[in-house]
Amino acid sequence: MANILSFFLVIYLLNFSPILCLSSKANNYGYLYPQFYDRSCPKAKEIVKSVVAKAVATEGGMAASLLRLHFHDCFVKGCDASLLLDSSGTIVSEKTSNANRNSARGFEVIDEIKSALEKECPKTVSCADILALVARDSTVLAGGPTWEVPLGRRDSRDASLSDSNNNIPAPNNTFNTILTKFLSQGLDLVDLITLLGAHTIGNARCTSFRQRLYNQYGNNLPDYTLDQSYAAQLRTRCPRSGSDGNLFFLDYVSPTKFDNSYFKNLLASRGLLNSDQVLATMNPMSLALVNVYANNNEIFFEQFARSIVKMGNISPLTADRGEIRKNCRKINS
Ligand code: HEM
Repeated sequence: MANILSFFLVIYLLNFSPILCLSSKANNYGYLYPQFYDRSCPKAKEIVKSVVAKAVATEGGMAASLLRLHFHDCFVKGCDASLLLDSSGTIVSEKTSNANRNSARGFEVIDEIKSALEKECPKTVSCADILALVARDSTVLAGGPTWEVPLGRRDSRDASLSDSNNNIPAPNNTFNTILTKFLSQGLDLVDLITLLGAHTIGNARCTSFRQRLYNQYGNNLPDYTLDQSYAAQLRTRCPRSGSDGNLFFLDYVSPTKFDNSYFKNLLASRGLLNSDQVLATMNPMSLALVNVYANNNEIFFEQFARSIVKMGNISPLTADRGEIRKNCRKINS
């Protein structure tokens, strides 16, 4: 009975949430809209796409790394490219936070895009918009959905290491902690489950899920919500200690293809991170939506496009706030 109710609630959410999500968020200073650079830099989108395509052709795994950057940017002071700043002067780079250290990558690709854009139309296209476009292009290149990217964000003049540590969920956070972190960004349960579907591509290090394999509950027992033969396989390259940086596919079935197999894996108790598996074990509404996505790729794709546009609208700097950086790694002097 509970499952049937959840199912109908999910259908309701999928049908009605777009009305709330798609209207580009109004803020005190302006709106984002896809045509923002149509006059000032008509080739901007094309330039971004071609550099991303080249980077992904050179290394397939780059699509996942680039998609993740937009998330790690938006959850810290909004989508303002604060993530891209290197440490210098008063700035302590977010690249050194728990979520990013030894993990976030792809910054050289963003640099290459920025220098191509500076040649074409100097001081026009923000680094924050580059991250939003790159997330879309990477998703498409991996076989995922496309969407129109609202544009017009400007770049921050500071970064926040503490917000990066606190706001970006950690893989060992509880379901409730993760949901609270999403809600505080204006994203809801549907957005959380849908956006986590990005873990259909890319890798995680052994250190990000080791606890599940050996000592999930503080009593030297593995996580019982993890398929035990899958766990045994993972242990061969993720020992009790050492090999922290060994990489594992987040979706072992189709690691470079953006599809719904991530959700199928969750139903088979084969989600890699604790924060993945809890979507199927801790909340009946969440499990119902995981089921819907596992059975219907199209519904997943449509909602992914809506939820990522919504994420891209988190507290943008517009009008005269912030700046257009010349180099994404430094504020303008
Ligand atoms: C509950 C929220 C989330 C948690 C706890 C989480 C956690 C993680 C962790 C621990 C990794 C592996 C990092 C490593 O070991 O180096 C990872 C990778 C990744 N995450 Fe998430 N994530 C979350 C949400 C998201 C969202 C919303 C997106 C994008 C929309 C995303 C996209 C990715 C991608 C694509 C990768 C693979 C990166 C690569 O291969 O370089 N994640 N995430």
